[in-house]
Amino acid sequence: MVNDKAVLAYSGGLDTSVCIRYLQKLYHFDVITVTVDCGQNDDFKEIEKKARAIGAIKHIYIDAKEEFALNYVIPSIKANGLYQNKYPLATALARPLIATKVMDVANVEQAVAVAHGCTGKGNDQIRFDITMRCLNPKLKIVAPIRDMNLTRDIEIKFAEEQNIPINAVANKYSVDLNIWGRSIEGGDIEDAYLEPPEEAFQLVKFSDGNAGYIELEFKDGAPIAVDGKYMNIINLIEYVNKKVGAFGVGIVDHIEDRVVGIKSREIYEAPAAIAIIEAHKDLEKMVLTKHELRFKQLVDEQWSWMIYSGLWQDPLRTDLDRFIDETQTKVSGKVKLKMRRGALSVIGRESAYSLYKNDLATFSTGSTFDQGLAKGFVELWGLQSITANAVVTEVKFDRNGGKNSR
Ligand code: ARG
Repeated sequence: MVNDKAVLAYSGGLDTSVCIRYLQKLYHFDVITVTVDCGQNDDFKEIEKKARAIGAIKHIYIDAKEEFALNYVIPSIKANGLYQNKYPLATALARPLIATKVMDVANVEQAVAVAHGCTGKGNDQIRFDITMRCLNPKLKIVAPIRDMNLTRDIEIKFAEEQNIPINAVANKYSVDLNIWGRSIEGGDIEDAYLEPPEEAFQLVKFSDGNAGYIELEFKDGAPIAVDGKYMNIINLIEYVNKKVGAFGVGIVDHIEDRVVGIKSREIYEAPAAIAIIEAHKDLEKMVLTKHELRFKQLVDEQWSWMIYSGLWQDPLRTDLDRFIDETQTKVSGKVKLKMRRGALSVIGRESAYSLYKNDLATFSTGSTFDQGLAKGFVELWGLQSITANAVVTEVKFDRNGGKNSR
């Protein structure tokens, strides 16, 4: 008898490893594992070995770093992508891409199901499921951990019974890494009052180093050079991660609202994302009108919320991208940043599209700004506010029988 095939998004971790065996034993599938490389720096040879040892009939490795950087990270930079103004969306951006790759393989392999190792408590299940259903609603989605309401302890017990190798040192935290950042959850940092121990971090260093500078150059909203060196986006992000992280910059620690209603304490380290978005926002302030900026803030917020919430595939996201791309045609120029002991600040910016005109802004002689125009403008600008205040005073005066009262 030939079994139906299921294609599993496989990371090599505990959840997805036990999934291979569950899919075989309980669901009677032949399992094809797919590992999508978004910059997690894992030992992919080992992962393949592990998948085969557990029983995958085929393993596929897909290097998606460049696609991730170009089609997911760059749009997020243009949208100043930060969920709840804090989280640079690293994990959230990678999920729809991973799901798409798994669907591609399912199509080629003529699988009847796709599978992932997400629990029912997080956001990732939403991102995987919605992407998969948007791409092919006919394929079955199997999520063993969620379907069987499994906990980590049950998974470990099952892994031991089934001789599924698990990491000798039980991982202290649940970590997700890609080129855009590292997400850290679980373990002792579930105590929201506890300062995360330094050992939780990898990209950010805690030495007291002196101050340092970095210069970022943008073209059409995307970073193209650092410190005068032009490089591809992946190398650029790596360079910025190293340089900025060395000054202790790039940690995010916040209480986050998950889509399913849970509030969770989340730790991220994303030096490059924090620095690049900070610089990008600053450059936008120089080249966009105040009307564009005000409206774009709403668009950015909506965009980030959609990505976080698993709605990458919704047409509104591409609608927003069109607006954002149009604004970015002016976001070219350079931004200088200073790092010092965990702090980051923009200290300079320049652009050929700058709307900052020194002859208008200057306090010195030589200003071309006609102050005479301001008097009338202020009168009209404040007209309704002045009228509203006057009306209240008049009404009070009448009620008091013509006497002033305070
Ligand atoms: N809270 C973040 C998100 O929803 C990160 C999830 C990270 N996953 C993990 N296994 N640590 O995007």
